[in-house]
Amino acid sequence: MFNIKKYQIAIHFEETNRESVKLKRISKGQSLLEVMLTNNIEIKHDCGGVCACSSCHIYINKGSEHLEEMFLKEKHFVDRAYKPAIHSRLACQCLLVDDSGSVEFTIPNY
Ligand code: FES
Repeated sequence: MFNIKKYQIAIHFEETNRESVKLKRISKGQSLLEVMLTNNIEIKHDCGGVCACSSCHIYINKGSEHLEEMFLKEKHFVDRAYKPAIHSRLACQCLLVDDSGSVEFTIPNY
C-alpha cells in the first residue's frame, strides 16, 4: 500500500471578521493563486498570473521552503506591492514544488 502525500494549506485574511480557511489534500505543481481560485477564494490577479502586476501579493507565514524560489522579476513586482514585507510573495509565482508539506499565508487587506 502506498501513501499519497499532499499539502495542507492555511489561508488567513488581514480583513477583519473574515475567518481563516484550511485546505487539505492539495497536490504539488499548482501555484497558490491556482489553489485559491479552484477553491473559490477570491484574490485579485489583474495580469492573469503571469508575474506582470502586484495584485496577487500575499505574505508567506510558514512553509516557504516548499515553494519555488523567488526570481528577480517577481522581486521587482513585490517591491511595488501594497505594504511589501520580507515574507512577501506573489501568489501566482508560488508553485508547490515538493510532494507534500504545510503552507500558511495571509492575504493583505488592500
Ligand atoms: S496575478 Fe499578476 S503578478 Fe500574480
